[in-house]
Amino acid sequence: MIRQIARKFLKGASWDNPVLNAGFLALDPVDWAVRVPRGLGHLPRYSRRIRSNGVGGQFGGGKFAHLGNLLANYLETHAGLTSGSRVLEIGCGVGRTAYALLDRLEQGGFTGMDIERVSIEDCQQRGVFKRKGFKFDSLDVRNDEYNPNGKYDAHEYRFPYDDNAFDVIFLVSVFTHMLTKDVEQYISEISRMLAPGGHCMVTTFLMDHGREGQIGTFAHTEDRHSFIDPKMPEVAVGYEQGFFEENFAKHGVELSHGPIWGAWRKNSPLSEGANFGQDILFFRKPK
Ligand SMILES: C[S@@+](CC[C@H](N)C(=O)[O-])C[C@H]1O[C@@H](n2cnc3c(N)ncnc32)[C@H](O)[C@@H]1O
Repeated sequence: MIRQIARKFLKGASWDNPVLNAGFLALDPVDWAVRVPRGLGHLPRYSRRIRSNGVGGQFGGGKFAHLGNLLANYLETHAGLTSGSRVLEIGCGVGRTAYALLDRLEQGGFTGMDIERVSIEDCQQRGVFKRKGFKFDSLDVRNDEYNPNGKYDAHEYRFPYDDNAFDVIFLVSVFTHMLTKDVEQYISEISRMLAPGGHCMVTTFLMDHGREGQIGTFAHTEDRHSFIDPKMPEVAVGYEQGFFEENFAKHGVELSHGPIWGAWRKNSPLSEGANFGQDILFFRKPK
């Protein structure tokens, strides 16, 4: 809500506004003083967490840690994650789920990528990630909201990772900021990079049970994507479930679980506790 109001009055992302950013920076030491006694001193500071996770509820780190753990639990339960999994997170932001995977991955490995350079640099500097061999790549793909001057178009982007390189690939709140052709290309790339038997978890706003949500109504549709804000569609984008199923099926990858319905829509058919706001789908590449 705060972010939406800010958007109404400010062009671009809230952290790009010098006045708001000064306020976020001023809160960093107070947030740290609250976080440390809770055992959350290893998390990124407040002004960094809000870049990829929104302002609401971020103070003190509790929500950040809780949702990271919830998502990591889903990866174990429905995406076959084990301590030996080779994992790629696309659009990892400031590492919300990566922190929750620190104690769960041992002989496997974690690669996080994002197009928002500041968030990736934060992850790259963290001792907890360095000690565990977690790797983070900043890739210069354009997105009107997060990287408007990016060099490469998402709809023709080839990731710098080998075929069949990962057992688990996941995207949390990333396809919710990407348009049809871009998502189609990413699904093609995910299918290429997944090892046979590998899993993919995607969070999304599914348009199948109504378009009216707590954050606004997805009243506009172009190609296969629906969106709230015609001035900047990437702020919040939704799809029908069939769009994902068709596109993964083109590459031989099948729906394996879901949807787990999220709480974003009014009158959501909630499932599995529905503590995560968005709907979640799981896919699997056959062996
Ligand atoms: C709402 S944030 C979520 C961050 C993270 N997944 C999490 O759960 O905390 C959306 C993220 O998607 C990233 N993103 C947007 N477009 C992208 C693209 N084309 N490729 C990779 N990441 C992208 C943004 O930079 C941003 O970090």
